[in-house]
Amino acid sequence: GSEMCIRDRLHISSEQTADTVLPKLTGDIVLSHVTFSYPGAAEPALSDISLHIRPGQRVAIIGGTGAGKSTIAKSLAKRLGIMHLDTGAMYRAAGKKALDLGINPADRDRIAPMIASTHIDVVFCAGVQRVFLDGVDITDKIRTQDVSKAASDIGTIPEVRVKLVELQRGIAERNSIIMDGRDIGSYVLPDAEFKFYITADVKERARRRMFDLRRSGTDGGRTYEDIEREIANRDRVDSTREFAPLKRAADAIPVSYT
Ligand code: DC
Repeated sequence: GSEMCIRDRLHISSEQTADTVLPKLTGDIVLSHVTFSYPGAAEPALSDISLHIRPGQRVAIIGGTGAGKSTIAKSLAKRLGIMHLDTGAMYRAAGKKALDLGINPADRDRIAPMIASTHIDVVFCAGVQRVFLDGVDITDKIRTQDVSKAASDIGTIPEVRVKLVELQRGIAERNSIIMDGRDIGSYVLPDAEFKFYITADVKERARRRMFDLRRSGTDGGRTYEDIEREIANRDRVDSTREFAPLKRAADAIPVSYT
């Protein structure tokens, strides 16, 4: 069949999409007995909960590096038939541009003008999020270690956050949505109807990250200790930045994904 691209769900591009998606957004959506597990994980998290999500309501999934936010968000979004916005991809796009231009992503004086003339856009194609940087689809180029580090650094720049958060709020205004990111519950969508704070021990996160990297053959020769250090370092940068740091919103439900 033809590819369906939904931009913000405002522009539903085919009859088929409207038929399969819209009925799910009317009335209550009930989600129950959700279980998540990870290969080798001891216990599934978020099991046996029910979410009653109505059209227009928003779910915030908050957590640090490798906590399992996007796995949980993707799974929930699929079960609920609503959109999932991975906000990290936007910071990754910004970070990639800085790298491409040879600009230090933590250099506010140079990043602020760069971001002012940068166009980042998110499009949903057949349910999959694609990120465009200045009109070019870079979705497949932002999962490298360099881009992860650049995203974390560029996320400390207020001008970057203001611009990306505006985009994120705009998308959430027009859609029932699940959004994952570090500042979603505390800053981007403080009045989201549902908030989950996902946690896991740094050792456990490193173990899983290592598992993923080995499986995809992209560990780049890094050791478990290297990975653990990277995760701890990104957590530190993300939670100590001044502007909208990684924070557990007081009203978020803690979920340990172990
Ligand atoms: O979730 P992720 O690993 O794709 O995010 C990459 C980096 O982007 C993360 O280390 C910090 C930044 N980021 C952010 O500052 N705020 C968000 N809401 C999401 C990501």
